[in-house]
Amino acid sequence: MRTKMVAGNWKMNKTLQEGVALVDELKEQLKGIEPKCEVVIATPFIHLATVAQMIEGTCIRLAAENCADKASGAYTGEVSAAMVRSTGAQYCIIGHSERRQYYHEDYDILREKVQLALANGLKPIFCIGEVKEEREANIHEQVVKDQLEGSLFNLSAEEFGKITLAYEPVWAIGTGLTATPQQAQAMHAYIRKTVAEKYGKQVADDTTILYGGSCNAKNAAELFSNPDVDGGLIGGASLKAPDFATIIAAR
Ligand code: 13P
Repeated sequence: MRTKMVAGNWKMNKTLQEGVALVDELKEQLKGIEPKCEVVIATPFIHLATVAQMIEGTCIRLAAENCADKASGAYTGEVSAAMVRSTGAQYCIIGHSERRQYYHEDYDILREKVQLALANGLKPIFCIGEVKEEREANIHEQVVKDQLEGSLFNLSAEEFGKITLAYEPVWAIGTGLTATPQQAQAMHAYIRKTVAEKYGKQVADDTTILYGGSCNAKNAAELFSNPDVDGGLIGGASLKAPDFATIIAAR
């Protein structure tokens, strides 16, 4: 059975104090519940070390939202995968569409980041997804396949086994325009088929594929009811502890 997961991506929100308050609230919400899935929060770098201590002994796991494409050295302002790991974080989001779009992270850069994350004991949550024009042109499957081939399919099967995929149609992120359950299921099944063609059925069956894009407390259960949707990568709704807890319970 592959891992089910609900992961929150805080993006560039919350000061350190606000982040601490949110984690406290989330811990309160989850008290006494045994989630049936892996629960992850991805926070800005500056929160990681503090949050890592706060979640010790809880079911919450920690992710960074990004890491550098270089191992160490004179790269002012960057944060390496080794540094992320040293905070206690276990996961790292890589390839979010906002990184691709605003910071021009291409397939090669993302391939480096994945390699460095894995080499430093971090499990990548790797994001893929098409923009609106690509869906309208009916090339969304090819776009997602290219993203997989461009940054991940150089990995060995063993390495690929450490990857969580997140399908995030860019037109659904922060727009309130959620993919329909049918659109999500169709793409997730396509992604699993593509992984199977490269790594075989067993690896594909074991790959966790999350859906992201305006997933919220109201629509999560229906999205998660699809056989190939293993959970969600949640933006806005992860900033409200009760909503995030409801989404976790829906998984
Ligand atoms: P929203 O849930 O705010 O649409 O963001 C999704 C996302 O980008 C998660 O990584």
